[in-house]
Amino acid sequence: MKSIDCRKVRCIALTFDDGPGPYTGQVVSALQAKGAKATFFMLGSQVGGREATVRSVKDAGMEIGNHSFNHPDLRGLKSAGIRSQFQRADAALAKAGARATLYRPPYGALNSTVRSVLSDRPILLWGVDTLDWKTQSSASTLRSASRAPRGAIILMHDIHRSTANAIPGIVSALQARGYHLVTVSELLRAPRPGKVYTGPYAR
Ligand code: NI
Repeated sequence: MKSIDCRKVRCIALTFDDGPGPYTGQVVSALQAKGAKATFFMLGSQVGGREATVRSVKDAGMEIGNHSFNHPDLRGLKSAGIRSQFQRADAALAKAGARATLYRPPYGALNSTVRSVLSDRPILLWGVDTLDWKTQSSASTLRSASRAPRGAIILMHDIHRSTANAIPGIVSALQARGYHLVTVSELLRAPRPGKVYTGPYAR
């Protein structure tokens, strides 16, 4: 597949947190059916027993990020504890043959200790929060995601059936507006290790 230059065309990055889960495969299939890419921020604790799902995400050309082992608020941990959260998740992903290129701290919660530990990969937050976890409504998730602006990094969760069911509509709506659905690293081109991103235009 030809690479997309998001400086020249309209791009959006869908991101999915807290998986892999029972609906991850459905999300990947829905994306693939329309030639869309996305980024999956996985929890190490969810990988065990779902290695095949992780491999299918990777084989579909999706990007994978590390979302910690079991989703603590990292601001309550010392450096060693923070490091352990991401190392354990990396180890779980490695067993599934995958490597995370990005970090996303649970809740987007950062402080100076967290930032100093997570200095070797880009730190990816988001610009549009669909609140899919809260509404658990496909219609509401579709409405929120499909009106996102150019360059948005959209937060969703592939652990909810309502979100998985919304994906075909979201992809169609965004593609109808002329957007290319890309991975976070395609959107940002070469995101820098240790830098915090909410979108391509953030400073
Ligand atoms: Ni999360």
